[in-house]
Amino acid sequence: MAQSAAGAGVDLPPATGVTATAARPMTRATPEPRDRLIVALDTPDTAEAERLAGALAGHVGVFKVGLELAMAGGIGFARELASDGHAVFLDLKLLDIDNTVAKAVSNAADQGFAFLTIHAYPSAMRAAVDGLKGRDLCLLGVTVLTSLDADDLREAGYAATPEDLVLSRAQAAKAAGMGGIVCSPQEVAAVRAAVGESLAIVTPGVRPAGSATGDQKRIATPGEAIRAGADYLVVGRPITRDDDPAAAAGRIVAEIEAAL
Ligand code: C5P
Repeated sequence: MAQSAAGAGVDLPPATGVTATAARPMTRATPEPRDRLIVALDTPDTAEAERLAGALAGHVGVFKVGLELAMAGGIGFARELASDGHAVFLDLKLLDIDNTVAKAVSNAADQGFAFLTIHAYPSAMRAAVDGLKGRDLCLLGVTVLTSLDADDLREAGYAATPEDLVLSRAQAAKAAGMGGIVCSPQEVAAVRAAVGESLAIVTPGVRPAGSATGDQKRIATPGEAIRAGADYLVVGRPITRDDDPAAAAGRIVAEIEAAL
């Protein structure tokens, strides 16, 4: 396997599953249930992320690097995972003035990432698509965080319900030319009906029956999310905090397979 250029020592089994090139076209026709499982590597440092990625390579389709790990060397780590052929989801939830969003996306493209998130504000998404210039990176619009409920939205100054806000942002994502959206499993069916088959739908807030919800509020089981029409599931703590992460991932993949 390829050694990392930056020398951070990412050394995992060969990649399988989703590739950056395949991410967009395979949105509705993913061949392997495993490829639909995205694991959130929310860890305090890259050593722990590497341990988890080593345990999970071949058991999940995509590794997600988010803000926690990004602040601890995670972007370089993500680049190395990608250069070793693993499918990588950079979950930076970008939101800034249009010019900055466009330039950030432009810099992120061509680094081999499969997915990148932008908060689903219409102007930010249009800027992101402009910055991408047709290159091969699936841009996902984050509609409404799965940790927020109606009370949280009211407190933040929104009159809309989570479902209404998700739907209008999903439609804006489609209009902007985004590759997909992120929403709660509870909204997947309504979003799919509203936007059709062209957008990938990615759902965090996934909890196998009996597992701790943590701070997530709008949740469902893996089977429920897939049956509702989700293409990809993001799962973090139910896998990463298990004593046997590969076995936990395997149980979720089995549930995905049964629901397809
Ligand atoms: O540990 P858990 O399964 O709750 O992790 C969910 C992951 O999905 C986290 O990395 C979180 O940042 C991310 N996420 C989310 N809700 C969104 C978008 C991303 O929970 N709307």
